[in-house]
Amino acid sequence: MSTLSLFPTLIYNAPLKKTGWRTLNAKLLRESLQLREDDGAGRHWSKQNYPGGYTSYNSVSRMHEVSPTFAMLARELDRHVRKFANALELDTQSRPLTITDCWVNIMPHQVVHGLHLHPLSTISGTYYVQTPKGSSGIKFEDPRLDRMMAAPPRRSDARPKHRPWYIVQAEAGTVVLFESWLRHEVAPNPVKSERISISFNYSWF
Ligand SMILES: [Fe+2]
Repeated sequence: MSTLSLFPTLIYNAPLKKTGWRTLNAKLLRESLQLREDDGAGRHWSKQNYPGGYTSYNSVSRMHEVSPTFAMLARELDRHVRKFANALELDTQSRPLTITDCWVNIMPHQVVHGLHLHPLSTISGTYYVQTPKGSSGIKFEDPRLDRMMAAPPRRSDARPKHRPWYIVQAEAGTVVLFESWLRHEVAPNPVKSERISISFNYSWF
């Protein structure tokens, strides 16, 4: 063995649970659409910051505290976050990771979610409620990209771990987790139906 592989970037992707997720998603869908109707401040904010789409990120960002359905989702997510923290070998003995934010994102046709990271949190993720066939996945960027000033491009057949970016397909009923500093984006929704997801942050402090 002459080459070490160090400092990995882990991304977690798993079904929320084996059974019952469709029933949960039907409730989450109904409440998400209702929230968009009720949340005038969120619609106003989205108009400026999420053109064509709706997010409760800046208005109702603690859905797990106001809706029993979202609280149920958060209880399921806790389990996945614990598994991911174990995979990352994080020492959370003295202070557990706790959900701090949980918000709704609705992306109609052509709406884009620009490149961003999640400040003030440790582990972030998304749960997919409605993903019409052909809708965009979540695209992660190599966190070292801004240091590669003189690096040749990667070969077109490079393995995923050596590529500068990677897309995880969005699939209803599944959860994606990543460390909050990892930049990601969602390309414009190419299909007519709305892509609906719930994003969240877990914090250590
Ligand atoms: Fe995000």
